[in-house]
Amino acid sequence: MNGALTVLGIETSCDETAAAVVRLTDGRAEVLSSVVASQTAEHAPYGGVVPEIAARSHVETIDATIEQALAEAGLGFAGVSGVAATAGPGLVGGVMVGLSAAKAISLARGLPLVAVNHLEGHALSVRLTEDAPYPFLLLLVSGGHCQLLAVEGVGACTRLGTTIDDAAGEAFDKIAKTLGLPYPGGPALEKLARDGDASNFTLPRMLLGRKDCDFSFSGLKTAAARLAEGITSEQQRRDLAAAVQTAIADQLSDRAERAMGLYAAGRPASARLFVVAGGVAANGTVRARLQAAATRQGFAFKAPPLAYCTDNAAMIALAGAERLALGLTDGLNAPARPRWPLDQASADANPTHKIGRKGAKA
Ligand code: KG4
Ligand code: ZN
Repeated sequence: MNGALTVLGIETSCDETAAAVVRLTDGRAEVLSSVVASQTAEHAPYGGVVPEIAARSHVETIDATIEQALAEAGLGFAGVSGVAATAGPGLVGGVMVGLSAAKAISLARGLPLVAVNHLEGHALSVRLTEDAPYPFLLLLVSGGHCQLLAVEGVGACTRLGTTIDDAAGEAFDKIAKTLGLPYPGGPALEKLARDGDASNFTLPRMLLGRKDCDFSFSGLKTAAARLAEGITSEQQRRDLAAAVQTAIADQLSDRAERAMGLYAAGRPASARLFVVAGGVAANGTVRARLQAAATRQGFAFKAPPLAYCTDNAAMIALAGAERLALGLTDGLNAPARPRWPLDQASADANPTHKIGRKGAKA
């Protein structure tokens, strides 16, 4: 498709109300605005995201957030070529708020609607700022997801591995809670670990060396909770935080390295690009270990800037624009989907939310 596409993106699948405008010109993205209204303070007293509070907060904030995104981009609806919204997976009350807003705009302004998979948004987020041609290997590590995906293009992702219980960010958050840290736990744990000595505690390295590319964090969570009970000094607390962070980073890099080997087989050297996205990519130790694994395997390493690692609407607008460029639009009957695997074939062959098999967050 010739010319520029300017897409308004809306993201409401968890605890961030976000709107953004992205312009796609000959495959190159430019973020014209990206507004994120975080609800963290509203959920903090409860130690985690409360779906009911999230949905209400999205309703209250969505209109102003969209207006601000358009104003910062210097555009009205007339300057927009389409509207994209996260249609899942996520907390369905929140997803419905953003998707309904997008449908209303689409109907009132006669704009094409794109229902975007939140995971596809994360998968493409690196392309907001980096030259990252398809295909590439992606590790998506957030509070809700922990997956390795071969990203062949829009609508063409193959899942190489996923978590069989918790997501990595969820493990960070839950262990941080047992260490008495506030929500969200990941950044707080990283800060505490700064002056800790990881070698003072031994923690299990789940699934290390296995042939597949799956993750598991429940054993680590249990072991860390037991050790936390016996802590008697602030230094021990720091040491345990450091040990937890290292154990999570080790598992992520071991599984990612395994996936690099599988992904690279039969592909040209130009396809050797490893991308990490999602909130946990903000962690310095995790990034360093992943970068080292990529170097060992002869892969280039890229990660989106922090603002596009965590939930945002620019990535949804980009996924919307890339879909629009291919003529992939959705009807006003597009459903809000609490679960929506990116790779339906792998998900069907290897169910992720069957009790006793793979975890709910897969
Ligand atoms: O991508 P994201 O903003 O939201 C989801 O889609 O889940 O990721 C949030 C997750 C939380 O679990 C948070 O604790 C984790 O990312 N996180 C971190 C760090 N910053 C955010 N985990 C470890 N270290 C960090 N610095
Ligand atoms: Zn996310």
